[in-house]
Amino acid sequence: MARVTARTSDIDKAAGVLRGGGLVAFPTETVYGLGANAEDPAAVARIFQAKGRPPSHPLIVHIGGAQLLDDWVQEVPATARLLAQHFWPGPLTLVLRRSQRVPLEATGGLETVAVRVPEHPVALALLSAFGGGVTAPSANRFGSVSPTTADHVRAELGDAVDFVLDGGSCEVGVESTIVDVTGEIPSLLRPGGVTREDLEAVLGRPISLDATSDVRVPGQHPSHYAPRARVVLVEPENIAAEAALAQDAGHQVGVFLPPAFADTPVKAHAVVAVPASTAVYARGLYGFLRELDQQGCDLIVASLPVEEELGLAIANRLRRAAGPRPSA
Ligand code: TXA
Ligand code: MG
Repeated sequence: MARVTARTSDIDKAAGVLRGGGLVAFPTETVYGLGANAEDPAAVARIFQAKGRPPSHPLIVHIGGAQLLDDWVQEVPATARLLAQHFWPGPLTLVLRRSQRVPLEATGGLETVAVRVPEHPVALALLSAFGGGVTAPSANRFGSVSPTTADHVRAELGDAVDFVLDGGSCEVGVESTIVDVTGEIPSLLRPGGVTREDLEAVLGRPISLDATSDVRVPGQHPSHYAPRARVVLVEPENIAAEAALAQDAGHQVGVFLPPAFADTPVKAHAVVAVPASTAVYARGLYGFLRELDQQGCDLIVASLPVEEELGLAIANRLRRAAGPRPSA
C-alpha cells in the first residue's frame, strides 16, 4: 500500500496550523480526516463550514495514545479500557461521557464524545507534534463519499483546508467502527474497520447491533456516503440484466461486478471488478464510486457482499449510498 511518511517539516507546519486555529487534512488508516484543535470552538466551527455539515452532528476526537483517554472523558468503564487496549491504535471509535476538556461544539451538543487513536504514522506524528486532541470528521463534503487519498481531499475541499498532509492511500478504506460504551451493554453504532467478530472475540459476548435511538449519528442518515450517480442494489445474479436494461434505457451505467460473475458479459458504460478479498474491496470501495462518477456514470448497479467480517461495513456503506437522497 502506498503509505507515505510525511516530512518532519510538514508535520511541524501542520501542527502550527492547528495551533493557529486552522484546518489540516490528514491521513488515517481508514479515510482522510479534516482536523482542528478539539479545544478551539472557533476552529471546530470552521470544520462544519468547510464540510457543509449541520453543526448538530458530533465529531470524533483523535488522540495520540490510549493513555490519554482519561483526559477527554469522565470515566472509563472496564469494557472501554479492554477495547482500547486491544484495538488502539486502530479503526475503533469509542463513545464515552465527555470531560470538560471537550467543548460542546465538537460533540454537537451531546454529553458524550467519540474518541479514537488512529493507526497511521503521519496521524500519530501530527498528534504527537500538536500535543492536544484533533477533532476530525472525514474530509469530504457532507453526505458524499469519504476520501482515501490526498488528491480526493484537494479535489473536494480545495481552499477550505489550510494544509493537506499527504500520507498516501488509506489501507482500511472504510471508516472506523463506532461502539457506544456508555451503557451496560456495548452497542455497535457503525460497522467499520474493526469487525463485529473481532469485538465479540475480545468482549466474550455478542455485541448489540441496534443503534440507540437517543444519539444522533449522521453516518446513519440514509443518503450518507453517496456518489453523484444513483446506486441501485440487486441480487448478484440479476446485475447483468439490470445493467443492460438501464443502459438500453439511456443511462450511463456503472457496474460493480461480483467475483463469482467475473466472466459474465455485461452491457454497461463502465465495469468495476469487485475484489474477492473483502479487505481489498473495503480499501477500494470509495475510490471505485468516485471513479464511476468521473467516468460519467449516472447509475451504479451493485449487490451486497455477505454481511460478515468487513462485508458488514461494505454492505452498510453501499446501502446508504443507495438510500433516499434529499430532493435537489
Ligand atoms: O474512520 C473514521 O472514523 C474517520 C477518520 C477521519 O477518523 N472519521 C469519521 O468521522 O468517519 P465522521 O465525522 O465522518 O463520522 C463520525 C461519526 C458520525 O457518524 C457521528 O455521528 C459519530 O461518529 N459520533 C461522533 N460523536 C458521537 C457521539 N457522541 N455519539 C454517537 N455517535 C457519535
Ligand atoms: Mg464522514
